[in-house]
Amino acid sequence: MASNERAGRVLIAYTTKGGVTEEYSSIVAGILIANGFQVEQVDLKRGKKPDITKYDHVILGTGVRMFRVYGRGKRFLKQKALKNKTLVIFLSSGIAIEDPEQARERFLRPLVEKYGLEPLEYRAFPGRMPEPGGNKDEKKDTADPEMVRKWAVELSGKLE
Ligand SMILES: Cc1cc2nc3c(=O)[nH]c(=O)nc-3n(C[C@H](O)[C@H](O)[C@H](O)COP(=O)(O)O)c2cc1C
Repeated sequence: MASNERAGRVLIAYTTKGGVTEEYSSIVAGILIANGFQVEQVDLKRGKKPDITKYDHVILGTGVRMFRVYGRGKRFLKQKALKNKTLVIFLSSGIAIEDPEQARERFLRPLVEKYGLEPLEYRAFPGRMPEPGGNKDEKKDTADPEMVRKWAVELSGKLE
């Protein structure tokens, strides 16, 4: 699709420890760019904190370990300026390998309620559990980029 000014500017801010959230961020970025959005992808661990006032839509990607959503992701969601934006949140989680809905309810809904957010969407996707000493090549990858791709296509329609 040709560049579409109506599609708007999108920030994809993410924080990852194992890399899955970064992979998912890149998938979402690629699809939104293909649909005419101006996308900036920012790793919250690096560089300056992004100025969210510059964007029309804000997407936050985070992971979870030991039943705790990553602190950088939580701090990002506390920002008052988010209240004026279309907000989308996604999570990479081990629980979501079996049950994405359970992971969403368990990890994301409490944050949405605690910070009084009104996201357009918040979703959990399957992450990867490290296998100490195991041979990953023999196992099926639990991450599900195809699921994220499909979601991102739907999302790009909702953001326009
Ligand atoms: C030490 C450790 C603890 C974890 N704890 C949880 C957990 O409490 N709940 C969960 O759903 N997934 C858990 N996971 C799985 C992670 O959510 C999964 O690795 C996901 O891919 C993390 O996102 P990231 O790769 O972007 O860091 C854990 C993973 C590790 C390595």
